Formats: sequence, C-alpha cells, structure tokens
Amino acid sequence: MPDTATEPRRTRVVAVDPSRPDPAAIREAACCLARGGLVAFPTETVYGLGADATNGRAVAAVFEAKGRPQDNPLIVHVAAPGEVRRLVRDVPGKAAALMRAFWPGPLSLVLPRSSVVASEVSCGLDTVAVRMPNHPVALDLIRQAGVPVAAPSANASGRPSPTRAEDVVADLGGRIDYVLDAGPCPVGVESTVLDLSGPVPAVLRPGGVTVEELRGVIGEVLAPVPPAAPPQLPGGAATSGVEPGAPSQPVPVSGGACPPAATPARSPGLRHRHYAPRARLTVVLPGREGPGREPVARAVGDLARAELGCGRRVGLACTRETAAFLSRAGLLPGTQEKLRRKLRIIEWGSRDQAAQVAARLFSALRDLDRMGVEAIVAEGLAPGGLGLAVNDRLTRGAVAVVDLEQPGARGTAALEPETILVVCSGNTCRSPMGAAVLGDLLRRRGGRRREFRVESAGVRATDGLPASPEAIQVMAERGLDLKAHRSRQVTSEVLSGTRLILTMTQEQKEALLSLHPEVADRAHTFKGYAGTPDPEAGEDVADPIGLGVEAYRRAADEIERAAASAAERLLSAPDLAGLADHPGEEPEK
Ligand code: TXA
Ligand code: MG
Repeated sequence: MPDTATEPRRTRVVAVDPSRPDPAAIREAACCLARGGLVAFPTETVYGLGADATNGRAVAAVFEAKGRPQDNPLIVHVAAPGEVRRLVRDVPGKAAALMRAFWPGPLSLVLPRSSVVASEVSCGLDTVAVRMPNHPVALDLIRQAGVPVAAPSANASGRPSPTRAEDVVADLGGRIDYVLDAGPCPVGVESTVLDLSGPVPAVLRPGGVTVEELRGVIGEVLAPVPPAAPPQLPGGAATSGVEPGAPSQPVPVSGGACPPAATPARSPGLRHRHYAPRARLTVVLPGREGPGREPVARAVGDLARAELGCGRRVGLACTRETAAFLSRAGLLPGTQEKLRRKLRIIEWGSRDQAAQVAARLFSALRDLDRMGVEAIVAEGLAPGGLGLAVNDRLTRGAVAVVDLEQPGARGTAALEPETILVVCSGNTCRSPMGAAVLGDLLRRRGGRRREFRVESAGVRATDGLPASPEAIQVMAERGLDLKAHRSRQVTSEVLSGTRLILTMTQEQKEALLSLHPEVADRAHTFKGYAGTPDPEAGEDVADPIGLGVEAYRRAADEIERAAASAAERLLSAPDLAGLADHPGEEPEK
C-alpha cells in the first residue's frame, strides 16, 4: 500500500457473492483495511469507501481519494450495535430504540463522539455519525478488519453515489486498494442521517428509513430542510439554487429560450455540489398530491423538447407512467426519427413504487452520462416516504428544478415565442434578409401553435442604420418588407433569451463566440444548422455588399434554401400544445 494518499494505487476488484459471501475472498481486503488501506465495499444503500476510523492518516486518505471537502464528516460503520458504545460518549434511550428497530439498516445516528474515533472522521465536530449496514459483505468486512470503518459513499466528490462496483472503479480506480464487488445495492439511496445530539431528533439527510418510520418509533422528529427552494420564473419556469461553478440557468418549461450553458453562481450559500451527473440535470417535481399524470408528463416532455431544440443530446429519466402517457399521446420527442437519435429514455420504475425509483436513481444518471447525453430531464416523486430522499438527491444534483406545487408552475405548456437571432457583420444586408425569410417561413409553416420570433443583429454593427437599398429591393421582390429595419450590435442583452443563433459565416460565429462564449451551445452558422453547406463557399453566405443587386439576389437564394431546411429542423420538435389537439387521449389512471 502506498505511503501517501496521492501516490497511485493498484485497485483490485474482488467479486463476492452477496447471498453466500466467501470469508476468504474478503479476508485480504479486511487486512488491507486494518493496515490503513482504502477498501470500497457494498452496503444495502450505496457502495462505501472504507478506512479504519481510528487511524487519522487512513481517514485523511479517504478525503484525498474522493476529493472530498474537508468539512464534510464521515459515517462510521459497525458490525453490531454493541460496538457503538466505545465510539460515543453516550447512547441515549432513543438511539437504542432506533438501533433495535432499524439496525442493521439505512439509518445513521449522530451522537457525541468519543476519543476512539479519529478527529479527521468528524472534521473537528464533537459528534460522530454511526451506522450498522444491512449487507452481509459489509458486515463480514468490518468483522474481519476488527476496526470501526469510516466510509463515505465511494464516488468522486460531487458525482452520483455508486450503486455498482463499476461506478466505483470509474470514479476511484487507481486511487484505492480494493473494491469488493457484490453487484448492485438494493436500496440505492444513502442512509437517513438523524441527529440525536440536540434536544429534538432532527433528520439531516432523508434516506432509506423514512421520517414517518422514525416518528413511529421515537415520536417527535424534525423533518429535513429541503434543498434551496426553486424560485419561479415568469411563464411557469423555475430554477433551484445553484452552487458555485454549476452550469446553471433558468430553464423555460415552455419551450422558450435556450438554457445557456454557463452563468455565475446564484446561490453561493450552498457549499457543496452533490450527486451531479456530467450532463446538465433538470428535475420536475410533481408536488405533494401529485398533480396528476398529465401535467408532470407535459412538463417532462416540454423540458426534453426544449433541450433537444437547443441541439443537445437528451436523456429522459422518468416513471413508467409518464413514459407511457407521453408515448400514447404522441408527445415523446423520440417519435420523430431525427430526434429519436438524440434522445435516450430510462424508465426508472412506477411512480407509486418509490423503492424501485430509488434503487435505479443513481445508476440511471450514470448510465445516461455514459450514453453521452448532454442534458438530463428527470422526474421526481411525491415527497412522502422514500420519495423525499429521491427528490433530495435529484434536486441537489440539478441545475434547474420545476416544482409543479409552486404557484405559477402549472400551465407549463403555454408556449412563449421562441427567439432566433440571425447574425452577420453590419446587420444591414444578410442578417436582416435571413431574419425576414426565416421568420416568414416559420410563420407560414408553423401555424398558430408554434410561435417564433426571428430577429437580427451584427457582430460589428453600428446601431440604427437602415437595411441597404439592395437588400430592401430584393426582399420586396419576395413580398417581404425591410424598410423598418434598423441595425444593432450583438450584446449580452440581445443574446439573452435567444434559443438559437445563426451566423452568416464561420468567421462571424467565431467573432461572436470570442465575445460571448456563453452562447456556444446555441450558435451555428445558418447553412451549418440547415445542413446546406456547398462545396465552394462551405458554410458561408458570401457578402454581397458593393457587388450590385444580382449578388444580393444570389445571397437571398442561398438564404432561402438554408431557411427552408432550418425551418423544417425547428418545426420537427413537436410542441406540447399538440396535447390540446388530442382531447380523446386521457392520461392513464
Ligand atoms: O448510506 C450511507 O450512508 C452511505 C453508505 C456507504 O453507508 N454513506 C454515505 O456517506 O452516504 P457520505 O459520506 O456520502 O454521507 C455522509 C453524510 C453527509 O451528509 C455528512 O455530512 C453526514 O452524513 N454526517 C456525517 N457525520 C456527521 C456528523 N457528525 N454530524 C452531522 N452530519 C454528519
Ligand atoms: Mg456521499
């Protein structure tokens, strides 16, 4: 075993049958643990990364391997309730009652810490969290190691917790000594953390044992404080608080502006980002009663379409009921061939079976990441029982949350016009022509159900100039009026709220992105987006300025060809207003 935590380690993966664990298979890992090594092991909740809780150096190595912030304490795992006595200064009656009721099981109890526990475990706190896991491999490992085992979830800090050995290896391979592989963890969300060190027991983290179950044994229990409440945006959109560095933005629920990829922190109060897949995660919470299947399905489908409309590969993690409703109503974005290729769907269980969803929660997020999606839309559960833990994990990993219980969140299907910005240099010829042609096509082809607003601007524009006379003439020949057009420079304000930005040349796109890198995910060349580049000019629409009216006509022809394909692509994302066209389509009961 290496001397320092930073040295690479050879990670051995040992398969163990959870129904009949072979003690010999576990022995080596247990010896390694007792000598100060790092061993990942299965519990009923998630895989843990174990170290001897009495060995400060070993515990420090756990923080290092995970990249875990130094102020987030670890849970100490024991193989029998009696082992808790020497780890804590006092075992109150309520703690004993809870151990009898729920141990071994997914409940961690925060009690006053004794000096046996390395202070590194508790990050300087006077308390320690203890738990006896309900997994034969974990219990045998702790017994054979002969030491209490400090173990956080065995993921790289910030990532979804690992519920399979391969998730552990993906995050921590080369940084730890052993992984005991006993297959998937049955519960799937971590233990409930209950603070018994204060006057009234308080749930710090909802988990495998529900608040209702705890109250059934010890009476009064303070419920967990939910993650930062999502402020509602006009038009039924909502966001959660977002941690520093998180790529976050309000996500319009109504298929409006494209969610930008990166913005400054909105909620610096939240110190640590948790459970986050690599893809940007947006969560729909159905509210306490569950508003019925239709609004949830609408919001889930609408968000997925908004993300697809931004050109992202999208993963949908939703209940069986929502998937069924969306597909029966013809509302799944995947019903169109073009979009199906960009959409992955994981049904993670019935909305009435929170245990199914919990068991699949983290692995689904990781699977969607592995499939290469760029955005995930996930459906939460009614916030009772295990649903509370599911929603907690989803919300903490999300960049945006749509809570259907919040006023204003309903009616999410009301469509805002979607703004498209056409960009050239001076905003007097090509981009006003492009905006006029595309806007006209979308109006005629999209009908009333799909509203687009097409505007234009220039990367090197002087504000307030009219369109060039040739541009006005050539557009008039096509029945389009540019006389009222006035040029304007591209600014952050102009860009904000745009769903798609189309430049006339590659160079303009680069100029735009050097000034506004935040729009990289929605900026394309007009011809590139339309899929109509030609061998000579590539993705550029040549500048007709000074070349006479014929050159303008050629540019207008090129723009028209590109606009026709672009309009088709834009309109191929079906919208939710379509639901109103299928009154016979009742949601499943
Ligand atoms: O199910 C689980 O609990 C898994 C498995 C491996 O046992 N472990 C786990 O550990 O989830 P971790 O480190 O990912 O989460 C531990 C949680 C954190 O929220 C931490 O802040 C809290 O427990 N915690 C630990 N010790 C504490 C203490 N002394 N006071 C308050 N909170 C504590
Ligand atoms: Mg964790």
